[in-house]
Amino acid sequence: MKVLVIGGGGREHAIVHTCARQGHTVLCTPGNPGIATLARILDSPQDADSLAELAVREAADVVIVGPEGYLAAGVVDACTARGVPAFGPTRAASRLEGDKGWSKAFMLRHGIPTAQHATFSDLDAALAYMDSQSMPTVIKDAALRAGKGVTIAHSQDEAGAALKEIFSAPDACAVIEDFMTGQEVSVLALTDGEHFALTPPSQDHKTIYAGDTGPMTGGMGVICPFPLSATDLEVIETGVIAPTLAGMRAEGMPFQGVLYAGLMLTPDGPKVVEFNARFGDPEAEAVLPLLQSDLAQHCLDAARGELDPESIRFSDESSAVIILAAPGYPGDPVRGVPLGLPDGGDGEIIFHAGTREVGGQLQSSGGRVLAVTAVAPTLNTALTRAYALADRVDFAGAQLRRDIGGRIGARALDE
Ligand code: GLY
Repeated sequence: MKVLVIGGGGREHAIVHTCARQGHTVLCTPGNPGIATLARILDSPQDADSLAELAVREAADVVIVGPEGYLAAGVVDACTARGVPAFGPTRAASRLEGDKGWSKAFMLRHGIPTAQHATFSDLDAALAYMDSQSMPTVIKDAALRAGKGVTIAHSQDEAGAALKEIFSAPDACAVIEDFMTGQEVSVLALTDGEHFALTPPSQDHKTIYAGDTGPMTGGMGVICPFPLSATDLEVIETGVIAPTLAGMRAEGMPFQGVLYAGLMLTPDGPKVVEFNARFGDPEAEAVLPLLQSDLAQHCLDAARGELDPESIRFSDESSAVIILAAPGYPGDPVRGVPLGLPDGGDGEIIFHAGTREVGGQLQSSGGRVLAVTAVAPTLNTALTRAYALADRVDFAGAQLRRDIGGRIGARALDE
């Protein structure tokens, strides 16, 4: 099959890597230096119509859209209009991620468990509401912010500053919600809008520093599988994923693609922290190396409304991803830091997230730069190998968390 992957981060490198190892011809735009070793990179304007025209010109059998911004821009709609199957939700359905106020209202309408919340389009009203809130409180920019528009405020001052930052943008909207306690888990459902299959659950680590401290990032490391109880899994399948897909169908915007539920396992059961409309990043770098069945075929089947959940199979091994981020991230990351990458052994992969090549020299070009991944029979061994590989990367000033897996008691073993 000829697969066109859209995007250029670690998630897209993982998608390309999976399709390539499964024998497909892969094209990618805009891609990155890691992807370029596996796929033909296509130079193209990145707007929806140009990308759909590119898919037609290249006679792609299926288009897989990685990042949320392309979904919100209507790339899937533009491909579908031209008869090219594209994996991912339509622009309308991607609102489940793209508009957090709407998404919370959707959850209320369909009885999907989530934190108590209120939505504001006015700074003064939001500040007044904050006066009645106990701390900590969660403040979210309702718009797409690459995972970084969330603040867990521990004081009124911190909450006020976060709200002022959100409302410094035109037409801003903020969601204020109760802080939930418990383990966080990411559950990704591959779906054609009706049928779905869950990938193994995983756990991201979202703050920049160990011990879940510091500002939020797009994600600093993942373990997979997360040990979800059968009861919680059942609640998530029947009380979250199925009613969300049914609700989207009932509201006239069937959701096809990856429905990503970010959940908190609270003392009252699993509750949705947020929905995303695509593979998580870096969850994809942990989950996709475990996929044994054919990703491109699943994406084509989903786009055609013919997904067979029984055909989707994962290895029972474990994986760990350690993110190497640039100095300065999640603020202003330093770009242009030279990178030296070691060769990985069996089951070890370094996915490029924010890299570029200048005069033959690989450099950092973004906040999250590399996603260092290892697959092994046990989670502890996967962690050990991922950390050992990360420690062999030459990247001056790189930031990484040393406690990935620590929340569930997993640890990197000395081998
Ligand atoms: N890992 C969080 C996200 O993909 O949004």
